[in-house]
Amino acid sequence: MNHLFESIDFEENPIYEQIIANIGKNQFSIVENFFTPDEVMQLRQMLLKKHEVDAFKKAAIGNRVNETIVKSIRGDLILWMDESKANTTEQLFFTKINDLVAYLNRTCFLGILHKEFHYAIYPSGTFYKRHIDTFQNDDRRKLSFVCYLNEEDWLPENGGELVLYLNENGEEKEEVIYPFPGRIVIFESQVIEHEVKPVNTKRLSITGWLKTR
Ligand code: OGA
Ligand code: MN
Repeated sequence: MNHLFESIDFEENPIYEQIIANIGKNQFSIVENFFTPDEVMQLRQMLLKKHEVDAFKKAAIGNRVNETIVKSIRGDLILWMDESKANTTEQLFFTKINDLVAYLNRTCFLGILHKEFHYAIYPSGTFYKRHIDTFQNDDRRKLSFVCYLNEEDWLPENGGELVLYLNENGEEKEEVIYPFPGRIVIFESQVIEHEVKPVNTKRLSITGWLKTR
């Protein structure tokens, strides 16, 4: 193929265009059904299988503090994903992510060079207090990404809402997002303060960051 004419073959993707437009305007974007119900089920089963063999660790926070303090800030358990060792289910996840990243780099010149993702479980009673995702001295984190893997019958009463604290003309506005399965949330890591409200049942997700340099 003649590379000079590559742009002629370039297919606009309406979902990615929506993400780009939303982030440009509001610094965040929510997409329903980014993953199909079947993909969500496979990813959920993978997460639960890895949890069964005890592969998850208590999440840490940036600074060296003792465990009680950590527990009062966040109570989730995490397992980092390794793309180079991805199984079939995880490959399906990374294929979609890589496609999105390629599109963002091609159309927005974002220069996403690295990415990191982890599975997360919030056991009943846990939460993640208001924070920003770049407190770990990592200013390469550009976009935060969350994908919810809860069961189809997830109820708002279960709690575990993601709350984004937005700035609208100097006024703080809360955007409350329920962790419904298949839904993804993408937001600017360096700007948007957010928190995970206490959950009263197990809350499942994959969280990650798209990074520059
Ligand atoms: C995080 C985080 C949000 C969510 O892991 O840093 O803010 O909805 N997660 O799980
Ligand atoms: Mn966060």
